[in-house]
Amino acid sequence: MYKTIGIVTGGGDAPGLNAVIRAAVKTATGEYGMRVIGIEDSFEGLLGETSTRELQPADVRGLLPRGGTILGTRNRGRFVKHKDGDTDDERPESFQEAIKNLSRLGIEALVVLGGEGTLAIAAEFDRQGIPVIGVPKTIDNDLAATELTFGFVTALDIATEALDRLHTTAESHDRVMILEVMGRHAGWIALHSGIAGGADVILIPEIPFSAESVAQKIAQREASGSQFSIIVVAEGAQEVGHDMIYQEEGKAGSAPRLGGVGNHLRNDLEQMTGKETRCVVLGHLQRGGSPNAFDRMLATNFGACAVRALAAGERGMMVALQAADIRTVPISEAVAAIKTVPPDGQLVRTARDTGISFGAPDEATHHGGRQK
Ligand code: F6P
Repeated sequence: MYKTIGIVTGGGDAPGLNAVIRAAVKTATGEYGMRVIGIEDSFEGLLGETSTRELQPADVRGLLPRGGTILGTRNRGRFVKHKDGDTDDERPESFQEAIKNLSRLGIEALVVLGGEGTLAIAAEFDRQGIPVIGVPKTIDNDLAATELTFGFVTALDIATEALDRLHTTAESHDRVMILEVMGRHAGWIALHSGIAGGADVILIPEIPFSAESVAQKIAQREASGSQFSIIVVAEGAQEVGHDMIYQEEGKAGSAPRLGGVGNHLRNDLEQMTGKETRCVVLGHLQRGGSPNAFDRMLATNFGACAVRALAAGERGMMVALQAADIRTVPISEAVAAIKTVPPDGQLVRTARDTGISFGAPDEATHHGGRQK
């Protein structure tokens, strides 16, 4: 049994990080008598002078509903260097330094909360001798091997509320309203919130769209008496024959930032349809603030299960939600490839059956131009 474990949060924040920290600290100290050291600012806190603090039950009081992470977080940092083509180079010198510092601090094993990038670093720590259990975090829900990541359902609530609000203003002004949501290379947030929020068009990276097809859908709605339309577009959605749109090149070895497809589409649609069109970029509102009830519950279960897995001697594994149960799966399985929306899957079909367009070039003809 370990005497001291460390806990790290990495990558973009997500609602529920603090709830995981709280559950892990309570379980580790209460059930197993372990000490827990919080590592600050992701793995960066293990470099140089190091930045860590012991977390006792009193330090996690009141954390369940609190957004963000009390430990701070960083994207990538000094453990990987982003290369073109979405691949990363590890920096061996950072791992060596961090492992020396872990041993100096008496930290024998790690619970690592993160998405694909952070968990890939975690897996490397495990390979280099530090036992690790990962906890899947991302509002994008794009991690393989788990049905859900915490933070996703809260992000959906926020995107759905935004769609509800856009409906009333769109209807009052007879406008087309576009909501751009996050998700990187996966369309989960757009798909789920688009269905929950009654969007007329959902555009996702997995189904390339044509602006003409979207304009046609708007025209069909007009012909049937609906003078407004609601579009939800994932930041990674691509027009047929075009690349994804980035708002910023990667800086100092970090990944480029997606964004801008909504405004691009707004210009095209205004020209094509002659209708007033507005775009709202929901951005980091999807990540900030309190987790909803489901994410608090999932995060708590993940945190406790992660510590139990470490205590049982598991390593190199990630806690995952599968068939309503928390299991452990190899981290390597979770980071091998991202989980994207199956374009022929049930939910896409349900969306189409209920009159939602994905803006695919052949969609209007394919679906008989049906109305909502
Ligand atoms: O992966 C989570 C995420 O929120 C993505 O949906 C989005 O593309 C990205 O992070 C934004 O990152 P940043 O916080 O660096 O702007």
